Amino acid sequence: MRILVTGGAGYIGAHTCVVLAERGHDVVIADNFSNSSPAVLPRLEALTGRPVVLARIDLRDAKAMSALFAAHAFDAVIHFAALKAVGESCEKPLAYFDNNISGSLVLLQAMKDAGVGKLVFSSSATVYGAPDAVPVGEDSPLRVTNPYGRTKLVVEQLLEDVCRSDPGLHVANLRYFNPVGAHPSGMIGEDPSDIPNNLMPYVCQVAAGRRERLHVFGGDYPTVDGSGVRDYIHVVDLARAHADAIDFLQREHRGLTVNLGTGRGVSVIELVRAFERASGRRVPFEIVARRAGDVAEVYADPTRAHRLLGWRAQLDVDAMCRDAWRWQSLNPMGYAEREAA
Ligand code: NAD
Ligand code: WQD
Repeated sequence: MRILVTGGAGYIGAHTCVVLAERGHDVVIADNFSNSSPAVLPRLEALTGRPVVLARIDLRDAKAMSALFAAHAFDAVIHFAALKAVGESCEKPLAYFDNNISGSLVLLQAMKDAGVGKLVFSSSATVYGAPDAVPVGEDSPLRVTNPYGRTKLVVEQLLEDVCRSDPGLHVANLRYFNPVGAHPSGMIGEDPSDIPNNLMPYVCQVAAGRRERLHVFGGDYPTVDGSGVRDYIHVVDLARAHADAIDFLQREHRGLTVNLGTGRGVSVIELVRAFERASGRRVPFEIVARRAGDVAEVYADPTRAHRLLGWRAQLDVDAMCRDAWRWQSLNPMGYAEREAA
């Protein structure tokens, strides 16, 4: 199939492009590089052995999007392109609504005009807010706790309305838990442009000596060791699920909403210890106050993804840490390293 991957130069998008190419799909990336680097493209070419077709465009540019759909006969779209920093979304909600919601609307119009009826959407476990119970199933109540989360919930809801109006459109909503790790080659990985907001990239930078110590946000949660518990999922497992979702849409002619997680909760301190084992480095940490908006424990019930997609996470926390560390040690400054060289 010929697949448009919006945000395909980003962290999860790039890993998904590799899996799609491995499965014989032709990929076109649309990205404005607002949170990624063109330096990923030659690496994707090296990994896949194929040229990367890139459209450097902003999704909100309706003219450019319609030209893109006119230039390629897409069979399906995987829609990663979005801004994703929770804290920033609280400071700039309008920028998040514009980028994530308006971008999705322009994409949907272009798909409708071109008659493209298969869409995989990057949603997030953030749509569950603070869940009432764990593991979290897809039918758990949906709540929003920040503007970023609102963009994910709103796009899910507007997709539902659009699907109801258009029997030719089928959408796979994939609700990711906590994606971490990197491609085992060490050639692509997560490259935060600023101080990392998320745990794993911060741990990587502490182990590499770029930061002095990790601040563990909260040591008094009612969890195994008092630190927060999450469902970390290897980005390569996550990438595989996108190819499986494309197969589902092709095969079943209907949509779905599934959680993508391992089903296993891991505490911050457990992750730090696993990282120390995988890297052979020490990760000094200090327990500090809870981070506003955090919850004690979130992990997925991933059984629906297995039932509908035949997908199950295969890589454990040790593999996540090992691959994150390989990426970090081979690329201490991320993609900038290669660009500067
Ligand atoms: P990322 O920032 O690495 O990738 C997003 C890509 O989209 C970037 O390359 C960026 O330049 C591009 N982009 C953003 N706005 C655009 C626009 N208007 N036009 C064109 N390109 C644009 O993020 P990621 O971690 O790969 O996340 C991918 C998707 O998964 C996002 O939708 C994110 O909300 C969702 N998600 C991520 C996580 C996570 O923890 N990483 C968890 C749940 C859901
Ligand atoms: C994980 C755990 C922190 C950093 C976020 C978004 C969510 C989704 C995934 C996009 C928590 C603790 C963290 C640090 C720490 N993104 N922590 N010190 O908050 O579960 O989810 O990313 O959709 O929407 O909210 O992930 O990696 O920030 O935190 O102790 O320096 O690590 O308190 O327990 P989170 P995270």
